[in-house]
Amino acid sequence: MSYKILKKRQLTPEVFLLEIEAPLIPLNYQPGQFVILRVDEEGERIPLTVFSADKSKGSICIVFQVAGKTTKALSLMNEGAEIADLAGPLGRPSEIPEGKNIILIGGGVGIAEIVPLAVRAKQANNITIIAGFRNRNMVILENTMKEITKSVFISTDDGSYGYKGFNTDILKQQLVKNKIDVIYSCGPVPMMEKISQIARRAKVKCFVSLNAIMLDGTGMCGSCRVMVGGKVKLCCIDGPDFDAEQVDFEDLKNRQRRFLEQEKISLREFNKRMGL
Ligand SMILES: Cc1cc2nc3c(=O)[nH]c(=O)nc-3n(C[C@H](O)[C@H](O)[C@H](O)COP(=O)(O)OP(=O)(O)OC[C@H]3O[C@@H](n4cnc5c(N)ncnc54)[C@H](O)[C@@H]3O)c2cc1C
Ligand code: FES
Repeated sequence: MSYKILKKRQLTPEVFLLEIEAPLIPLNYQPGQFVILRVDEEGERIPLTVFSADKSKGSICIVFQVAGKTTKALSLMNEGAEIADLAGPLGRPSEIPEGKNIILIGGGVGIAEIVPLAVRAKQANNITIIAGFRNRNMVILENTMKEITKSVFISTDDGSYGYKGFNTDILKQQLVKNKIDVIYSCGPVPMMEKISQIARRAKVKCFVSLNAIMLDGTGMCGSCRVMVGGKVKLCCIDGPDFDAEQVDFEDLKNRQRRFLEQEKISLREFNKRMGL
C-alpha cells in the first residue's frame, strides 16, 4: 500500500498540513479518530488525528506541529514522498449530541482536532469555537473555523491577535452569557485540566481528547493507559475522548513526562545527522 504525500502546506513555522494517499481510511472514518504512522521502516509510531478524509480522492489530511524527532522528520518530507506505514482509523469516534449548544475549545495544534468535530457537530447543534494561541504567528485554520460557524473567538497569550489572554477567559465569559450544554476540548494537558475545572464549576458536561503516549494504538502495549473514574482505561481503544470530570490529570501529566530525556537525545541526534 502506498501512502504518498499528495499535498504539503506550511501553516505556521511549526505547523504543517499533509494530504496523504490512503484510500481505505476514508471508508470507515468518523470525526475524533486518528491514525498511527511511521515515517520510515526504522521510525517510531506516532498518533495524529485525521483532520479530514475524502472518499472520492482516497486521501486523508493531517495537521501536525513539530514537537520532536518524528514530527520533525515528517515536516521535512515533500510532495511525492511516501510514508512507510499508516494504520487507521483508530480510536472511538467522538460522541456528538444533537440539538445542543456546544462550545469547542482548543489550544495551538489542538484546533486541528477540534475542526473535524465542529464540521460534524454543526449539522445539528449551535456551535461556538474558542481557539487559543501563543501569538499571532501561531494562529492556524482561522478561515476554516469561520466557514464552519460565525461564532469564533480567538485569543493570543500576548495580545498580538484577537483577545489578549487565555482561551479559558473567553470560555468563562461565554458560560455566563449563554446556556451551554456541552464543552469539547483538545490541546495541552494543563489547558484541558483548567477547562475541566471551569466546566465542573459551571455544571456543564465536558469531554477532553487525551493525548497519551501511544505505541501500537490497538490496546495491546498498555503505553497509553490513563486513569478515568478510578479505573485504568486505554486511550487508544477506550478514547481518546473521555468525560473530563473523571480524568486523573496528574497521572496523565506524569506519564507524559516519562521519555523526556530520550526524546531530547533522539531529536539532537536526528538534527546532527541531518545537518540541522
Ligand atoms: C490520539 C492522539 C492524536 C494526536 N493528534 C495530533 C495532531 O493531530 N497533531 C499534532 O501535532 N499532534 C497530535 N498528537 C500528538 C503527537 O502524537 C505528538 O506530538 C508526537 O507523537 C510527537 O512525536 P515526536 O517524535 O515528534 O516528538 P517527541 O520528542 O518524541 O515527543 C514530544 C512530545 O510528544 C508526545 N509524544 C511523543 N511520542 C508520542 C506518542 N507515540 N504518542 C503520543 N504522544 C507522544 C509527548 O508528550 C512528548 O513529550 C496526538 C496524540 C494523540 C495521542
Ligand atoms: S497504544 Fe498500546 S495500548 Fe494504547
